[in-house]
Amino acid sequence: MSEEEDIQQSNEIEANPEPVAARGTTPAWPFILLVMLFFGGMVYVEETAGAFRVDVYTAGFKNPPPAVGLSEEDELYVIGKRVYANCAACHQPSGLGVAGQFPPLKDSEWVLAEGPNRIIRLVLDGVAGPMKVKGEDYSNAMVPWRPTLSDREIAAVLTFIRGQKEWGHSASAVLPNKVKAIRDATASQAGTTWTADALLKVSEKD
Ligand code: HEC
Repeated sequence: MSEEEDIQQSNEIEANPEPVAARGTTPAWPFILLVMLFFGGMVYVEETAGAFRVDVYTAGFKNPPPAVGLSEEDELYVIGKRVYANCAACHQPSGLGVAGQFPPLKDSEWVLAEGPNRIIRLVLDGVAGPMKVKGEDYSNAMVPWRPTLSDREIAAVLTFIRGQKEWGHSASAVLPNKVKAIRDATASQAGTTWTADALLKVSEKD
């Protein structure tokens, strides 16, 4: 290597020194921004339900997911079909119940009553003891749903069983504000199951 080349090389090294990792210069704000965006996104989804569909998933949203072109009543029916999973264990998916144990909902005079005043109470706080359904006697007990189902879920399941097309039902829908009104008015009933006799004293509709 000539002296000239040697000098040139050492000049290049001075001009382009090896990169050295600097300490403490990574800014924190991109991370903070990321966390804020992530958190904001979750809040947004919780508040608005994002693009979750009402007929697929509703649990735990403050606001119901957007109805995809459904009327309020159709929306309740669709939700009710899913809530009915809670009832099908006893009343069966067919709505025919189990002879001597669980009364049928299909063609039941309780379900198809003109108004839902009795069945809202019955679902909220349960019913036990002698009960006549479609001319058959039952004497069993149904669990209360006041603590577990929301006004909207109770309205939905009752709209569903009253309107169940496959059972040939077409009784009117039950709206959440009706359930809320009865839930509040019967707060003192909480923890005590109804008897059929007591329910029969309540007028079917307002
Ligand atoms: C653990 C079993 C069980 C579950 C779960 C259950 N029920 Fe019942 N249900 C009964 C029994 C038993 C009776 C009759 C009670 C009696 O004999 O006094 C009844 C009565 C009824 C009646 C009045 C009688 C009739 O057949 O029309 C309705 C309406 C009703 N249930 C709706 C529901 C709905 C809606 C749900 C779901 C939210 C539900 N039940 C969940 C057991 C159950």
